[in-house]
Order: sequence, then C-alpha cells, then structure tokens
Amino acid sequence: MVLTGAGISKDSGIPTFRGKDGWYKNHPPEELATPMAFNKNPVLVWEWYNYRRKIILSASPNEAHYKIAELEKYFPCFLLVTQNVDSLHRKAGSTKIVELHGNIFRTRCTNCSIEFYEDYRIFKDDELPPKCPHCGGILRPSVVWYGESLNRDDMEQAFSFANKADLILVVGTSGIVYPAAMLPYIVKSHGGIVVEINPDTTPISEIADLKIKDSAKSAFSKLNFDLKS
Ligand code: OAD
Repeated sequence: MVLTGAGISKDSGIPTFRGKDGWYKNHPPEELATPMAFNKNPVLVWEWYNYRRKIILSASPNEAHYKIAELEKYFPCFLLVTQNVDSLHRKAGSTKIVELHGNIFRTRCTNCSIEFYEDYRIFKDDELPPKCPHCGGILRPSVVWYGESLNRDDMEQAFSFANKADLILVVGTSGIVYPAAMLPYIVKSHGGIVVEINPDTTPISEIADLKIKDSAKSAFSKLNFDLKS
C-alpha cells in the first residue's frame, strides 16, 4: 500500500501546503479550504483553485509517480491512497488509486449537487464564482475541505486495505491531516511495515521501520525494481 501527499508532486513544480514556500504561507487553511471560507468569499477561494489548476495543468508526473504506477503491476494486491488532488498519479498510469481528498478537476453545484468530471476550465475573473448551467447555483471544486466528511466508499476502501496491508510506503506527507494520517498507524498496529520517504521528519517517522530521508523523485530514481524475478 502507498500513501502519498503533496511532497511527491513538489519535484513536478507544484507547491506543498505547509513549509516556507507552501500554499498556506500567506493564507492559512481556514481562509481557503473550509466550507465557511467558501461561503464567506467564494471568489477568493475560486481564485486560489484557478491558480492551482493552471500550475497543475502545466505539470507532469515525475519519476516517483511513474515508479509507483509500475508497482501496481507487480503486486496483485495493491492500493495507492493519495491526498493529492492533482491527477498526476493517474497521468503516470496508476489505476488502483483512491483520491481521498477529491480531484481539483471535478466541480459540483452547491445547489443541485450535479458533478462535472474532467473540468479543466480556468475561469475568467468576471466568471467567478462559476454558476451551474442547469440550476444557476454556485459551483465549487469537488474536493474535501476541512470540516467535511470524506467520501464513504473511498474511506472504506483505504481503511479496509490498511487493515490487511503487509507494508505501507508513505511518501511526501506531513502526516498531520486526519483521517489519512491514521493509515500508517493502522498498518503498524497489526504488524505491518512502515517505510517513509520524506526529506523532513514527521510524526510518522517515529513509527517508521525504514526512513528514507530524501526527496521522492531522488529516492525513487535510485530504486531499481527487479520485481519480475
Ligand atoms: P504538506 O504540505 O502538509 O506536507 C508536505 C510534505 O512533503 C512535508 O512533510 C515535506 O517535508 C514533504 N516534502 C517536501 N518536499 C518533498 C519532496 N521533494 N519529496 C518528498 N517529500 C517532500 O502536504 P500533505 O501532507 O499532502 O488537504 O497535506 C495533507 C493535506 O493538507 C492536503 O491533502 C490538503 C492539505 O490541507 C486538504 O486540502 C483537505
């Protein structure tokens, strides 16, 4: 099982959330990533998502995304759980994947709940906040914000997999956002192995059986799979 966070996409040019160059440096999560923030100022929140969409659309997967996509071919029982909304794992070819926090290219109506997939639009300033073509309600990014529940099926899939996983590879996450951060503890609790790849120390480092203190791209480019034999 693999759990990824924003750090894996940093080498693809997408900022992380926390840290000195992170998204939250100037605007903390409560100003950008909560239903309250959206109700108060949907234009500000949409400006942030528009900006992130632009950066993400120009980004490509890196070695770490590609190597993880390769892993699923070798293990019949495999699951990638990502907190990232950037689609880079899918672009790299991963198919056994749960996007626990949603996807930035999905939009849904706050009024009639209709959902639009593969919505790659970048909205102009005077189109913000965008409106639903069906009912005129305000559209929102279909991602999970603080204070919102995760999709029940995604949760079920991720947590039941963790309950039986022999090993979890934790890549590029600060490990402080729950419930995603629980997954390594679940694997550890039934005797599974925890491997962490992160240049920094996180709460997960304490329970890691193996800690690779390196960037995801560099660590994965040194890994040469010979899993066929
Ligand atoms: P964070 O920004 O909290 O943490 C990024 C992690 O990546 C840190 O631990 C860094 O040390 C590490 N990192 C930095 N560069 C790296 C590199 N090149 N290779 C590997 N690791 C690197 O991002 P997340 O843990 O993903 O949720 O954040 C979790 C959630 O908080 C996000 O999904 C988002 C955010 O608020 C929601 O929006 C609900």
